[in-house]
Amino acid sequence: MKIIVTGALGHIGSHLIRRLPEAFPKSEIILIDNLLTQRFASLFKLPSNHSYKFFSADVREFDFNKILDNDTFIINLAAITDAAGSFENSEEVEKNNFDCTQVLAEAASRSGAKLIHISSTSVYGTQSNLVDETCPDEELNPQSPYAESKLREESLLKKYSKSKNLQFLCFRFGTIYGFSIGMRFHTAVNKFCWQACLGDELTVWETAYHQKRPYLDLNDAARAIIFAIEKNLFKNTTYNALTNNLTVKEVSDTIKKYIPDMKIKFVKNKIMNQLSYEVSTKKFLDEGFSYQGNLEKAIKETIYNLPHKP
Ligand SMILES: NC(=O)c1ccc[n+]([C@@H]2O[C@H](COP(=O)([O-])OP(=O)(O)OC[C@H]3O[C@@H](n4cnc5c(N)ncnc54)[C@H](O)[C@@H]3O)[C@@H](O)[C@H]2O)c1
Repeated sequence: MKIIVTGALGHIGSHLIRRLPEAFPKSEIILIDNLLTQRFASLFKLPSNHSYKFFSADVREFDFNKILDNDTFIINLAAITDAAGSFENSEEVEKNNFDCTQVLAEAASRSGAKLIHISSTSVYGTQSNLVDETCPDEELNPQSPYAESKLREESLLKKYSKSKNLQFLCFRFGTIYGFSIGMRFHTAVNKFCWQACLGDELTVWETAYHQKRPYLDLNDAARAIIFAIEKNLFKNTTYNALTNNLTVKEVSDTIKKYIPDMKIKFVKNKIMNQLSYEVSTKKFLDEGFSYQGNLEKAIKETIYNLPHKP
């Protein structure tokens, strides 16, 4: 069995690639990343009991024909990921992210490989209190160019499953929290930990403080991907994956336990005007998955790994 991880050096990838050998000890693990975000350190000290093959390459230019067969799983994490920043580079985000997905959908369809694609709960922009995967199109209201691309990628996968026999699973991940060696700090929990550790004010979007949003512990993210492969969960459908729905207040109160003099500054942002909503993960729970993540533990570990004032 072969497992190919694209975008392997990123926040999620750098954690996942360390979990795969334990779950699939006999697998051949192939990592692809174009180092767009320069996370070289993600390759340091990989588990020594497993051999990895790393390609420093762009997914859009990679010749997948030479490595794919029907005993291969592709985990697609390759993307430009800063949602708030994507207003400034929307064309580049679309070109990179959509085209990566298309190349992989083509290659997987041709070879019989199975594709796990990671979308985002940011595709919802709902007025409902609780939303799930069956919601009507009006509740899919992506709030950034990044999220719009995600939605187009999801449609592409559905189209390929019908017209080209692609076998895929798509996860809509909540915002990730938790430490990894290739961690990034664009997103809420991680950014707040970073700011608090540096003695800066936490920049909270004005409307966001009491709004519920979906979050996913990094350990649960890796466990969800491993679970999908183990259960052969390739039903050409989408699952929400999230450990909890939380407000920014709950997140910042947790950080305050470890950095009591932490301060908040309210700021404006373009992704700001939605009402509070929660995302349901019942569909994935019904497949037998259980979440084990813990916000406080993840925040504690992140803070522990950063320099901060005593
Ligand atoms: N982290 C989150 O909160 C979160 C939440 C929901 C969904 N997701 C999705 O999960 C996936 C992984 O997210 P992440 O947080 O690890 O992102 P990340 O930015 O940390 O990592 C992405 C990696 O992809 C690589 N990459 C980008 N374009 C590439 C290309 N064309 N070819 C090869 N490599 C390329 C980058 O160099 C980087 O190492 C993304 O699709 C992201 O949208 C992430």
